[in-house]
Parts: sequence; structure tokens; C-alpha cells
Amino acid sequence: MATEADNIGVLYEIHTIAMNFYRNYLHSAKAKTAWQYLRGRGITKETVREFALGAASDQWDGLYRYLKRKGFSDDDLLDSGLVAKSKNGRYYDRFRSRIMFPICNIAGQVIGFTGRLYEETDGQPKYLNSSETAIFKKRDHLYGLHLAAQWCCNVLILVEGTMDVIMLNQAGFCNVAAPLGTALTEEQLQLISRHTKELIICFDGDTVGMAATRKALSMATNIGLNVRAVTLPYGKDPMELIQKQGADNFSDLLLSAHKPIAYEIAAAEQACPITDDESLIRYLQTAAQILAKETSALVVDVHAGTIARKYGISKDVMLSEIKSYRRKLNTEGG
Ligand code: CTP
Ligand code: MN
Repeated sequence: MATEADNIGVLYEIHTIAMNFYRNYLHSAKAKTAWQYLRGRGITKETVREFALGAASDQWDGLYRYLKRKGFSDDDLLDSGLVAKSKNGRYYDRFRSRIMFPICNIAGQVIGFTGRLYEETDGQPKYLNSSETAIFKKRDHLYGLHLAAQWCCNVLILVEGTMDVIMLNQAGFCNVAAPLGTALTEEQLQLISRHTKELIICFDGDTVGMAATRKALSMATNIGLNVRAVTLPYGKDPMELIQKQGADNFSDLLLSAHKPIAYEIAAAEQACPITDDESLIRYLQTAAQILAKETSALVVDVHAGTIARKYGISKDVMLSEIKSYRRKLNTEGG
């Protein structure tokens, strides 16, 4: 009788074979559109090799038939999540007409895929991930971490998307990883903390990315990780920045990464650009509210001093504004 461990071994095997199947297709004469897409995004052949990228064709059951010929049972194929069964009992591939990015566990075993459409297809989501299986739990893994961990990095850069990981690597940043299309989890942070001393959050510069950054900063701080975050120009993601402004500028951006409280202040400054006295006052009030929550007097003093110098106001006034917000907080908090 097959045990659960046997079944898991089979799932790893299916994934390795599927990865090679998708790679072979990408390197066949039929994959012109997929290559056009990759070239259009500036992805090189070396990157394709390093990340073992492949492509799924538009066939309904190409992978299914291939794996059947290799002798796998329908049940194992369904368990792998790479094949599904229609209402009328036909088996079909989960991924079609997509660039295929193998997702690996920290040991480098393929456990799932992210597929991105290489042509606009009506009604299809741009990205599709493997479904959860016995070997693939999204909350436990990060895209690219097994490669980053090879370099034994002191600093890990955390980005939002698969493509960000790839383009940053191509530009020479080998210490990058991304969650798998969901919010960052406690499990992912624990895994990160076992492989790096310091984390730099580099999510997209939009409202969603900034909210996710705040959450990630607080979760990472809570588990004792040394964490900082960068503020990206509004609407930009790391991939776009690196393509438009180059690796040196991106390094400078990483050097400017803020500790949590300074990130809050920088994010507030970005959210309400200072154009006149009114907006300056609004910003200073927000900064004072942020600093009112800080418990270290030293940290408050340094930030108050920096802000005062930057905007030509008195540090004492800034400190007293902070104090008044703190009094309010204390009365509200009971
Ligand atoms: N994502 C997803 N499903 C979607 C859209 C996004 O799972 N329908 C996940 C993917 O893992 C993706 C990440 O969220 O890598 C970030 O999404 P987005 O910012 O849209 O990805 P980009 O990398 O900017 O997309 P593109 O390939 O268009 O550059
Ligand atoms: Mn993006």
C-alpha cells in the first residue's frame, strides 16, 4: 500500500518532470510568442536558465498526456495540482499559454509554479499560481529564497512580485525573494530570519504596497528581525526602477532604507507633498502623531531634531507638539 511519504516523493518527481517539460517547450521552435514576451521584458537567456523558466503551450492536455506516458496515475496527477478534471471527466492542464516560473523550497526542490500570461487572454488572470498541495503551502515559501540563501546573505531584499525577483537578480542583486502572491506570513518571516541578519522591504510604491510594508515592518519587528523599508516613488515597482534608473540608483535606494518609525515619517511626507504652509503643518502634525507612539526618548529627540532642521522650525516646538499628542494618546488609552 502506498504511504503518504511515497505520495510526496511522487509529487516532487512530477514537479521536476513538469519543469523540464515546460523548459523543453520554451526551447522548441513553437515557443516564438513566449520568447517575444521575454525579450520584450528584457529578460536574458542567462536569466531564463538561472531561474529555470519555461513555457506552457496553448494545448489543453499536453502536460497531462506527457506525464501519463511517464506512467503516473490520474490520482497522482490530480494531487500534484498541475492537472484538473472537468465535469465531464476530461483531464486538462492547469497552466496554458503562460511563462512558467518554478517555485522551489529552500532545499531547491520544485514544489509549484507561477504562470504568467505571455499574451492577453480574455477572462484569464495575469498570474496564476499552483494550487495548494501536500508539498506546496503558499504561506511557507518565498519565491527566489533558495537562490538567495546560497549566497549566505547578510541582507535580504523582499519584493512583491516574481518579476521583481528576476529583474533584480539580472541586475546583480542576488539576495532577493518575494511572497507568493499573498500577504507576507509569519511562517515566511520565520524562514527568512533563519537565513539573513537583516531584511529590507521593497514593496511597490502604491497604497497597497505601503500598507503591506507597514504590516511587514511590524510583523518582522515582533519576531526580532532587524528590518528596514524603502519608499518607492508613487506607482513604481522595483523592477521598473532598476530598468529605468539602473543598479547604482537602486543601491542608493537600498542604502536609504528606513527603520520602522522613520519609514512612517517618510511615507507621510510622500503621501502629502509639502507645497505650502498648510501642507507643511499637516505633515508636521502627522509626524508628531507618529513620534508620539515611540517609547524611546532618544529616538524621538533625534527625529524631532532632524525634522526641525529640515523644515526650519524649532525643535522645542516639535517636541511639545509630540508631547501633546502623547497626552491625548494616554487619556484615550485609559
Ligand atoms: N499576483 C497574483 N495574481 C494576480 C496578480 C498578481 O498572484 N492576478 C502576484 C504575483 O505573484 C505577482 C505579484 O502578485 O508577481 C505582484 O503583482 P503585480 O505587481 O501585478 O506584478 P508585476 O510583477 O508588477 O506584474 P507584471 O508581470 O505585469 O510586471
Ligand atoms: Mn509590481
